[in-house]
This record gives sequence, C-alpha cells and structure tokens, in this order.
Amino acid sequence: MNASTIVVAGATGNLGGRIARALVERGAGVKALVRHGTAQHKLEPLQALGVITIASVDWTSASQLTPACSDASCVVSALAGLRDVIVEAQRVLLDAAIKFGVPRFIPSDYSIDFTKFPAGENRNLDLRRDFHTRLDKTSISATTIFNGVFADMLTGQMPLILFKLKRVLYWGDADQRMDFTTMDDTAAFTASAALDPSTPRFLRIAGDQLSARVLASVASEVTGKTFRLLRAGGLGILGVLIKVARTVAPGEKELYPAWQGMQYMRNMFDGRAKLKPLDNDRYPGIRWTTVRDVLSAL
Ligand SMILES: NC(=O)c1ccc[n+]([C@@H]2O[C@H](COP(=O)([O-])OP(=O)(O)OC[C@H]3O[C@@H](n4cnc5c(N)ncnc54)[C@H](OP(=O)(O)O)[C@@H]3O)[C@@H](O)[C@H]2O)c1
Repeated sequence: MNASTIVVAGATGNLGGRIARALVERGAGVKALVRHGTAQHKLEPLQALGVITIASVDWTSASQLTPACSDASCVVSALAGLRDVIVEAQRVLLDAAIKFGVPRFIPSDYSIDFTKFPAGENRNLDLRRDFHTRLDKTSISATTIFNGVFADMLTGQMPLILFKLKRVLYWGDADQRMDFTTMDDTAAFTASAALDPSTPRFLRIAGDQLSARVLASVASEVTGKTFRLLRAGGLGILGVLIKVARTVAPGEKELYPAWQGMQYMRNMFDGRAKLKPLDNDRYPGIRWTTVRDVLSAL
C-alpha cells in the first residue's frame, strides 16, 4: 500500500473533480474511476491535472474495480445518484476496496448530519443511511464528511436568497443557524482527510453558520440593497407541502425533484442536523470561505 495513493470515484463530477485537484495539490497520486463510455471532454481536466490513472470500469462488478484499487490507502467516493448509485455502485466500490485491502473509505455523504434525525424525512439522505448500515458492518475504516449545504448553491439552485425580490425566504425560525461550506473547501478538507490515516468515523465542517436573519443582513451589506425576511410558513406547513408536492409531481426517478429540495430545507430549518462540534481546525492551511465571500464574488 502506498500511503499517498488515493482512489477517487466520481472524479468526473463537480465535487469529485475538485477533490482530485486538491489531492494532487497535496502531492497525492490519484487514481480516478470513471464509467465506461465517459466523454473525452470530462476526462481532459483529469488528464491535465496529472492523475496517475483513469480507469474506465463496469460499476456492477467488484472484480473490475479491484485492480483499480491496488496500492491505495483510501477510496474516496464523490458519486451522485439514487439507490443504484449510492447504495449499489458504492457497495461494489466498497467490496472492491475491501478485497484489495484498502484500509480506509470516505463515502459520498457531504451533507447535513443525517444521523440526527430518523429515516423517512429525507429520501436522498436515507439512501446514505442504508449504505452506512452495510459500511459499518465491514472492517474498513470509514469516515463521513458532513459539511452542511454547499454555500455555492446560495447563488444558484437554492431558493433561500431571492435576489430579484430582495428577500430571504425562511421556514419556522428566522434565527435558526445553518451550516454552509463551499465545494472547494469541502474538497480541500476531504483531500486532507483522505491522506490522514487516523480520521474518526465522522468529521464536521462549516465555512459559515448563519441564520436567515443574518443572511438577510449579509446580503444587504454586500449588495448595498435592503434584503428583508420572508416567512413562508411553519415547519408543519412545509411538511404538508412536501407530501402534496410528492403526490402531484412525484419525480421519484429524479435526484432533486421539488419535494426533495423541500425535504432538505425542512431538515436545515428544524435545527437537528446542525453540525457540532466542528473539525474545521483539524488541518492547518484551509482558509474557510464565508457566505459573505461567496456573495461578494457575484
Ligand atoms: N451538501 C450539499 O449542499 C450538496 C449539494 C450537491 C451535491 N452534494 C453531494 O456531493 C456529492 C457529489 O455530488 P456532485 O454534485 O459533485 O455530483 P455530480 O457533479 O453529478 O457528479 C457525480 C459523479 O458520479 C458519477 N456517477 C453518477 N452515476 C454513476 C453510476 N451509475 N456509476 C458510476 N458513476 C456514476 C458521475 O459520472 P459521470 O461524469 O459519468 O456522469 C460523476 O462523476 C454527492 O454526494 C452529492 O449528494 C451535496
């Protein structure tokens, strides 16, 4: 085993590519696992980074993945998908890692702390919980990284800061703090954790921890325009809306149907998944990006 050889699954993805880059920056040898038939334009950034190998594999067969895991000290997964990926493809990846004696595994979690609420509240996070049930029965040393919400989403997909309306939408309590970490910071921390032989089962990071009320004042300061709070309703109402949305527009085969986004929102605003204590100081050299930084870069 080479302590600085790391396998990255999902390296063609948004987070996975950033993890691969952060690993190379830290002097690691990266082996990228990709799907058969991956388009050349997705491979070029990995080739330019100088990863050791790009193995195109059949994700249904551990024996295909096993040689790609040779010599590695950690397998990092940044796969994204539903049951076929998070439970099934990750299981094949896990089996391959175990077969080749890879000592450590980082599953594709990168989320709020779903261990703090029961199954049934968030479909996508339940899939991770299912995978953990299997993972925790093996002898491999697993580390989950919890980072809250990707802060980058505040200026994109996430309907929290409504820039055109100059409102910050919230459910329940405007003073409930939530965790935000950029993808780059999550990738940097994950790369350091992948190279650290003594990580615990869970690591928690947050570039920033803000409530809707503070988000409104930060958005106001950064843009020079007044952002006010907009209360959409209580968490009970949100729960009812989730049920209605799931009935009217099920989209069960989609990764992020509208009701799934609402499930994430409910978990963030109800406070149980709040990350504490934080492991931000575990690796020196990571300068945590704040929400103010993210909004200022707009
Ligand atoms: N906390 C947050 O706010 C937040 C937000 C977004 C995502 N996330 C999490 O971050 C992680 C990475 O997400 P991302 O946005 O970087 O995803 P992404 O850009 O969609 O990348 C997903 C990766 O998984 C690979 N993949 C998908 N299905 C596969 C399959 N059946 N077999 C093998 N490989 C497959 C993709 O390969 P191809 O390139 O071949 O498609 C790609 O490399 C996930 O755990 C996701 O849930 C967290």
